[in-house]
Amino acid sequence: MRAMKGIILAGGLGTRLYPSTKAVSKQLLPIYDKPLIYYPLSVLMLAGIREILIISTPEDLPSYNKLLGDGGGIGISIRYEAQLRPGGLAQAFTIGEDFIDGSTVALCLGDNLFHGQSLTNMLENAKLSIEQEGGAAIFGYPVADPKPFGVVEFDDDDSVLSIEEKPQVPKSNYAITGLYFYDSEVCSIAKSIAPSERGELEITSVNQVYLDKGRLKLYRFGRGTAWLDTGTPEGMLKAAEYVEAIQSRQGYYIACIEEVAYRRGFISRKDLISISQKLEGTNYGKYLLSIAKEA
Ligand code: TTP
Repeated sequence: MRAMKGIILAGGLGTRLYPSTKAVSKQLLPIYDKPLIYYPLSVLMLAGIREILIISTPEDLPSYNKLLGDGGGIGISIRYEAQLRPGGLAQAFTIGEDFIDGSTVALCLGDNLFHGQSLTNMLENAKLSIEQEGGAAIFGYPVADPKPFGVVEFDDDDSVLSIEEKPQVPKSNYAITGLYFYDSEVCSIAKSIAPSERGELEITSVNQVYLDKGRLKLYRFGRGTAWLDTGTPEGMLKAAEYVEAIQSRQGYYIACIEEVAYRRGFISRKDLISISQKLEGTNYGKYLLSIAKEA
């Protein structure tokens, strides 16, 4: 069984955050104490994924490289590819085809923040299911107003009945989050779909193909999980407040990629101590040292 790979889409225009995104890519902006991209990156790492492709604009890729390098320092491998214009989420699989190279693959949108107790378990289960049985997995999250999202309708057994993009009359209150797992068919499916009216290769079209084949599985996040949107100034502020509240209360960081790497066994205690020493004098470095010294 080949290990699942992961893609983070970190391009886009970020128009809703203008002018903050005029000179800086959205996914490099901070959510409280760390760059936004740390949050989706830690989700993929929590799922046990160690080979990751970051897709962004040609102008912004050097900044991501400066931030994360080849990933070797945290026991993973990171590659980079450019998206010349934001042509839709499903372009991840045409741009990433060589990287995917016949493996299963997870896609996480660069501006999605997930956090909660059952998260790691659910990610591992979904990953294993796709690696062993193929098909695709989407993750639903209950929201007060589903209209601005992709919405999934399902029956009593959580079998998917329909998926609709930004419906006027939503058939459920479950939004489809920005995390998707696929078998290796996804590359040929992404090439086969037609662009939508807005000229984008839509992820919903890819998911519809899997649904038509009876191969789309739904995982539902419970009320104890947070899924936060960071695409607007209000969303960024609320996400930052959430991260600050949890971190200061618990003393544990959310999306600390070095900690995740250590806990998942991607790096050793010695590695973690050496990273923390390089960050000496910073709160982040002190935190890493405290994790390395935990019993
Ligand atoms: P969006 O929030 O839909 O788009 P955006 O980031 O350009 O923001 P705005 O609507 O304010 O202009 O994108 C969701 C995520 O996917 C975000 O992290 C950017 C990324 N993305 C790409 O990398 N390439 C794309 O072609 C699209 C559509 C999005």
